[in-house]
Amino acid sequence: MKRTSVMLAVMVFASSAYAAEISPSDVVFNEDAAVAESLTGTPGDAANGRKVFMNRKKGNCLACHQNADMADQQFHGEVGPSLDGVAERYSEAELRGLLTNSKKRFPDTIMPAFYRADGFTRPLKKFAGKTILSAQEVEDVVAYLLTLK
Ligand code: HEC
Repeated sequence: MKRTSVMLAVMVFASSAYAAEISPSDVVFNEDAAVAESLTGTPGDAANGRKVFMNRKKGNCLACHQNADMADQQFHGEVGPSLDGVAERYSEAELRGLLTNSKKRFPDTIMPAFYRADGFTRPLKKFAGKTILSAQEVEDVVAYLLTLK
């Protein structure tokens, strides 16, 4: 291929809608299991993150965590630590790392890895290659968690 057509191909790829989104296998974890770079380049929406947190089919975080900000919700699990004041315990990058793949920080945890598409022993066919949350949903939940002070 000539140099000019290679350049063109690169430009077409870079302008596609998903160019800014980091795929699950390309996420870079630093030595503290933190992910410094946004998965999407688009700031998280805390209000949507709150909905994803509560949604039983998405984050389902309340199944395992207590959260005083959601006192109106009936059931709060106690398998994991309470998330009250979590923004004072973890940085944005650490929270992003924890949500992307909690196993990097807590190797034996039962907390799901929300943005990992492989590494499951026997994924159900309909979930194969899919992440539990989208990259933007991870960013939204991170933004929400940062409001819990
Ligand atoms: C199946 C249960 C389960 C679910 C669902 C779950 N977690 Fe966890 N989470 C845990 C456990 C257990 C820990 C403690 C780490 C360990 O395993 O030692 C934890 C730890 C954490 C921590 C660190 C808290 C601290 O104080 O150290 C954060 C933050 C967190 N989870 C956020 C979330 C969010 C946000 C969601 C939803 C998107 C979620 N978790 C869903 C079980 C769960």
